[in-house]
Amino acid sequence: VGEAKPGPEVTVEFVQAIAREAGEILRTSFYDRNKKVDTKDSPADLVTEYDRAIEDHLKKRIHNAFPTHQFLCEESSTSNDCLTDAPTWVIDPIDGTTNFVHSIPHTCVSIGFAVNKQVLIGVVYAPILEELFTAEKGKGAYLNGERIHTSGRRDPSRAVVCCGFSVSSLRKIGMPDVDPVAQAAAREIEKSVMNNVTYCVHNCRDIRHYGSTALELCYVAAGRLDAYQSLSPKEWDLAAGVLIVEEAGGCVIDFDGKPLELHVRRALAASTEELARSFVGKLTAPGL
Ligand code: IPD
Ligand code: CA
Ligand code: CA
Ligand code: CA
Repeated sequence: VGEAKPGPEVTVEFVQAIAREAGEILRTSFYDRNKKVDTKDSPADLVTEYDRAIEDHLKKRIHNAFPTHQFLCEESSTSNDCLTDAPTWVIDPIDGTTNFVHSIPHTCVSIGFAVNKQVLIGVVYAPILEELFTAEKGKGAYLNGERIHTSGRRDPSRAVVCCGFSVSSLRKIGMPDVDPVAQAAAREIEKSVMNNVTYCVHNCRDIRHYGSTALELCYVAAGRLDAYQSLSPKEWDLAAGVLIVEEAGGCVIDFDGKPLELHVRRALAASTEELARSFVGKLTAPGL
């Protein structure tokens, strides 16, 4: 298999155009005070009619243009679906649904296009903040058309670090209808989350948590945050943002220091490889 290419037809302009259309649905519905809110796996796992509407819109637009392409999307994929070598669109229709429901502007559409499991194009659009982040493999990262770079920070003691975690997955602890194995797994995750936040509190300048993984990665890319660490992200949280960080000169690895695989549910992103590696062996994860 040679170097992966997006194929002549998939362009960053197409991905930006559909992200803007999706963002327009997000922007107009953001101000709907009567959104219908359902829950999924736990009382903290929110979904609205708009998450589904945006995902449906994007899938239709993409399917019309590229009928053979695959999808890995939050609202329509099952837990058995995984990224294959086929051209695949990895989509989070609304990343930061809780922010969206609570009128907090840190909410976005995230679209990654991957071939041979490599993300070639990533677009994250936050319509309330009017910020469009884009990257194409090998061609740099951009915010509203201007080239962006990470902070270049190397020293953890001067780093502002985003500590991501999923309240929804920890909420399973103590829920009577959740089976004991899942509860035990959630307890292990909780131990690591607490260890990792404590490590950052004691060794870094400050910590943040915005509630949208895709935007948090884009903030590392733009030099606002110096690092991001989390045990919760899924493929659609990461796909676009990871490419945007890398194309901005940053480094994304697994907690064990190895290259990141999108399905592993751990991610360590930083302004520099030196800063990313300073966390390896200090942050813990179940099974590491
Ligand atoms: C969530 C956000 C949040 C992260 C959660 C995700 P959603 O995605 O990315 O930052 O902490 O783990 O589930 O559900 O709003 O798309
Ligand atoms: Ca969700
Ligand atoms: Ca998400
Ligand atoms: Ca989502």
